[in-house]
Parts: sequence; structure tokens; C-alpha cells
Amino acid sequence: MTYYSKVIGTGGYLPEKVLTNAQLSETVDTSDEWIYERTGIKSRRIASAEETASSMAEIAARQAIEAAQIDPESIDLIIVATGTPDRVYPSTGCLLQRRLGIKHAVAFDIQAACSGSIFGLSIADQYIKSGAAKTVLVVGSEACSRIVDWTDRTTCILFGDGAGAILLTASEEQGILSTHIHSDGEYEELLYCPTSTEQQAGYISMRGNEVFKVAVNTLGRIVDETLEANELEQSHIDWLVPHQANSRIIAATAKKLKLSMDQVIMTLENQGNTSSASVLLAFNEGVRDGRIQRGQVVLLEAFGAGFTWGSALIKY
Ligand code: ACO
Repeated sequence: MTYYSKVIGTGGYLPEKVLTNAQLSETVDTSDEWIYERTGIKSRRIASAEETASSMAEIAARQAIEAAQIDPESIDLIIVATGTPDRVYPSTGCLLQRRLGIKHAVAFDIQAACSGSIFGLSIADQYIKSGAAKTVLVVGSEACSRIVDWTDRTTCILFGDGAGAILLTASEEQGILSTHIHSDGEYEELLYCPTSTEQQAGYISMRGNEVFKVAVNTLGRIVDETLEANELEQSHIDWLVPHQANSRIIAATAKKLKLSMDQVIMTLENQGNTSSASVLLAFNEGVRDGRIQRGQVVLLEAFGAGFTWGSALIKY
């Protein structure tokens, strides 16, 4: 028997500290109007000095476990997507495993920048479908504020911190219908962040306008690929849960799906781009406020550095 990956719980965490556009305009040459018009962002959350990817992941994961009402020991795989790990090693997945006190699960990190949680969902789905794992925790957690150059107005306005979590379990009922993930390493120079092992450690560097164009085209193609693979029309999609990078990119994807913006879960305005956490944070918000209902079809998608991009079609 082939099993589906059924969503049994979601969770999210945002740090307390709010950084508004107005506050940013006191330190770099920008304005609330420019940022909101070009991106759709008004404020973002910033992790405290004590908070890390694993501490934020723990809170989001505990919420998902509580929602699913499962014994944490039944989790046999933990996947953490992050571009801002606590340490190079141990992985943030292992640190999360210890925080959750789950002894026997296998835990690891994946790095696919802003597409991380979609890549995580795809891996989790393969493990569940093949029977290699029964219950999988996927978390996207980011302390982006630590790799942002706060003097660079072209990038510092975009990013925020937070964590999103989702729990999946093997079920005969439909769950994840399909996942589609892609990479193209040709675009390194358009969007990258040097590591501390390089001669010059540094911050996010992005040629935003060029990234924007590739993102819009690529996300249009992933929508087509996902619908075709499932023999669905646009009208079969109830909700779009996009990566929250820019409201104009999201609007273009919604248009491609012939969805009104009322059918799009938007968290960008008060969260900014939380990289690998954003899709799971948005999904969690839609589930918890009751917009996403059991039985509905939800398209999750993301695009990020690499470039990497992907989608997950879920019957919730
Ligand atoms: N305030 C005021 N002016 C600014 C600011 C700012 N914060 N930032 C840039 N500008 C100026 C530029 O200097 C430029 O001025 P010029 O015309 O005199 O040279 C002008 O505004 C236009 O700049 P663009 O870069 O062309 O602006 P654009 O409309 O493209 O918006 C943005 C920039 C918001 C970054 C957009 O390009 C974008 O969202 N790109 C995609 C981001 C994305 O999806 N990234 C992938 C995920 S992230 C990840 O994987 C880590």
C-alpha cells in the first residue's frame, strides 16, 4: 500500500521585537512609502541576542506537536531547513532533537535558501511514501537578521526572523499530492551570502531586480508543472501559500493561477521575508485562523538563492 503524507499539525513562532519601516528609515536612506510600494512590507520581527534558529524552531515544533496531539517519541525524522544555523555543526536538526527530547529520530538540516521548507516537504514526502519514515517533522527556522548588512538599503529592508513547523504522518487519506523541486547553480552571483570559512565573511548580497524577473517567470512555470502533474485546472486550487519575498511576485503567481488575492495567504506585511520559514509560517497562519479547511487543495511555492524553487500541492 502506498501512503500519503497527511498534515496533522502546524506551528509558528515570531520573535517579539518589531522593526518598522519608519525605524529603518532612521538608519538607512529609505522610506516607508518606498519599501511598502516596492515590496508590500511594513515591519519585520528581529530575534533577540539569546534567540537562535534552534530555539525558534523548538517553539514552532512544540506548537505543531500539540496541535497533532501525538507523542513526540513517535516522530522518526526531523528535517530543519535553515540558512542561518546555530552552528556549522552539529546541525540545527540535531540541536532541535535534543531540545525536544526525542531520542531515536534521525535529524538533519537542508539548505535551499528561501525554498528550504518546500525542499523539506519534498524529502519528507519521499520518506513517508517509501515507508522509510512514518511521522516527520519539517521546520523552517531563520535568524536572517544575523546575515543582513544593516547599512545596505537594498537588502536590509527585506528580511525578518521566525520559524514555521509542520508535522506529517503516513495515512491512507490524501495529503501531499505532489512536490516539485528544482535547482540551477548558474545564478550564484545574483544572490549569495559568504560563509565564515571564506576569506571575507559577510552578508546577503542580491541583485534584486534581476532576481525579481527570474522569480516571476520561474514561479509561473512551477504552477504549470504542478497543475499538469495532477491533471488539475487553476479553479481546483483553493489557496495559494507563497514564499513571502515580495507582494508583486506573489500577485503575479496568483494571477497565473486565476486566484483573487483573497485566496492567497499573505504574511509579508508584518513579517518580511523569513526565508525558509516563510511558507510554513504562512501555512500555519491560514490553518490556525480557519481560512484553510480540511479537504481543501493548497498550493505552496517558493523561490530562493541557488537558484532553487519548488512547490508542494497539499490536500489539507
Ligand atoms: N529605499 C529607497 N530606494 C531604494 C531602496 C530602498 N530601500 N533600495 C533600492 N533603492 C533604489 C535603487 O538604488 C534604485 O535607484 P536608481 O534607480 O537610482 O539606481 C531604485 O531604488 C530601484 O531599484 P531596484 O533594485 O530596481 O528596485 P526594485 O523595484 O527591483 O525593488 C526589490 C527591489 C524589492 C529587492 C525587488 O527587486 C525584489 O523583491 N527582488 C526579488 C527578491 C527575491 O525574491 N529574492 C529571492 C528570495 S530571497 C533568498 O533566497 C535569500
